[in-house]
Amino acid sequence: MSIQIVVESLFGNSDAVAAAIADGARATGASVGVTPVAAAPPELGPEVGLLVLGGPTHAFSMTRPSTRAEAHGKYGAPGQAEPGIREWIDRAVPRPDLPVVTFDTRVQVKLVPGSAAKSAASSLRHHGFGRAHRGKTFFVLGVEGPLAEGEAERARAWGAELAALDQPAGAPAD
Ligand SMILES: Cc1cc2nc3c(=O)[nH]c(=O)nc-3n(C[C@H](O)[C@H](O)[C@H](O)COP(=O)(O)O)c2cc1C
Repeated sequence: MSIQIVVESLFGNSDAVAAAIADGARATGASVGVTPVAAAPPELGPEVGLLVLGGPTHAFSMTRPSTRAEAHGKYGAPGQAEPGIREWIDRAVPRPDLPVVTFDTRVQVKLVPGSAAKSAASSLRHHGFGRAHRGKTFFVLGVEGPLAEGEAERARAWGAELAALDQPAGAPAD
């Protein structure tokens, strides 16, 4: 069994979280692949035992073409424009029994609601990934980042925890 991480990132922060999750999981001996969402095929291989799907929160949810255009136009984001994880979910071949956890990055501003991790988990379940759960949110210090202090370490520790769940009977908690 292996862990597949599919990540969207406009400025590199969600990429850094994905890399840290992978590091933490690999440190326990897990086999982990990290794929940018633009290169992720719609059908996961049979060897995948846990999918970790993540990306930035834009406008209280997963990115959309308009918010990605804003990231590029207003902020000069270098990352891939299309597709985002929203579009990947729409095209994905569902695996009803596959454990899936989501994550997102966002700025830490009081009273600003919304999380791409939450939206993605809900969208995945509607799309037929019946075992999709919201995972963790990681904070960045501004639209362009960087990750807040300690977030990479937190992602690494979470990766090690997730590797322990990548068992036939493992089910991530919501
Ligand atoms: C168009 C746009 C909309 C955003 N909307 C939100 C938001 O609603 N809530 C939030 O916390 N952060 C918001 N952000 C900040 C992003 O979450 C931040 O840029 C992202 O976490 C950086 O991750 P990345 O480097 O992987 O793209 C927004 C950023 C952009 C560019």
